[in-house]
Amino acid sequence: MSPSTVTAMAAQDHEDQHEHEHQAAHEHGHVHLDEADWERWAGQAEREGEVLLDVVTKAASWASDLRGTAVGPVRHVVDVGSGPGVGSCELARLFPAATVTAVDGSPAMLERARGRAERLGLAERVTTHQAELPDGLEGLAPADLVWASMSLHHVGDEVAALAALRRLLAPGGLVAIAEIAEPLRVLPDDLGIGRPGLADRLDAAGSRWFDELRRGLPGAKAANSLPALVADAGLRIVGSRIAQVRLDPPLADDARRFVADTVDRSRQQWQRHLDADDVAALEVLVDPGDERSVLRRPDVFVHASRELVIAAPA
Ligand SMILES: C[S@@+](CC[C@H](N)C(=O)[O-])C[C@H]1O[C@@H](n2cnc3c(N)ncnc32)[C@H](O)[C@@H]1O
Repeated sequence: MSPSTVTAMAAQDHEDQHEHEHQAAHEHGHVHLDEADWERWAGQAEREGEVLLDVVTKAASWASDLRGTAVGPVRHVVDVGSGPGVGSCELARLFPAATVTAVDGSPAMLERARGRAERLGLAERVTTHQAELPDGLEGLAPADLVWASMSLHHVGDEVAALAALRRLLAPGGLVAIAEIAEPLRVLPDDLGIGRPGLADRLDAAGSRWFDELRRGLPGAKAANSLPALVADAGLRIVGSRIAQVRLDPPLADDARRFVADTVDRSRQQWQRHLDADDVAALEVLVDPGDERSVLRRPDVFVHASRELVIAAPA
């Protein structure tokens, strides 16, 4: 056996062990994401951030309008749950007088954020800070803008996290939060594989998975609407809207890869909530050798939406 085969087998053993632990967690009715998951998803998260970048660009411009000019330029932005730093780098580009602190609990994500900032010539203004929300923000400089995109729902006590973000604000500062509005859609209703309506059944499976994820978070509190969480954290809403990204067929290569990542992740994460026919359909959809796969079929698209809330201290 070659050394590379042994390494591959050891890696597979590790994956199997990891899957086994996840299965055990699932049997107790919760999902737990760990550093190995974030590390594995970092590349996909970067691609997703790039495909949906318009959300950050437009939200930042809107936050800038709401902030007005009287309080001076934005000098410090904190990107909370930055992931691979796509938003952090975009915010650095949009606010040229600002330094941006990318905050995340995952060292692998922060390493990617540093690599991205370096590649884009932004390393002088984009720095990273590892913290596990709601803790670990105390040492940061006051922020003119806090951007928290798709990170709040990973924190058990969302009100405590939002209160920590409020305490970070400089005078005149704003917190901008982006969370899922409608489930991401990438597949037409009738795929010509299995029963029509797979996309609806994936939404239902994703929603069950999400409930299990929330139940598994340390200090998890009952679900509440974003406006209610914001109010409970001592913030007042200064603007809210739904942002949408709609990419119609035929998709560019990066968007098609994002669709393939999305379908593959649904297959891996949600299959316990799907019947065998739907899992078999997903196998076809992610098989690069099959002409019905999402990598080759002409009818896939991206419909993503985010609930955006911008808030100031109450
Ligand atoms: C879905 S990604 C969002 C990335 C990016 N902000 C975006 O909108 O595409 C969620 C990120 O939140 C981070 N995260 C999850 N729980 C966290 C916590 N308690 N404290 C800090 N970061 C956390 C994860 O490591 C991951 O990078």
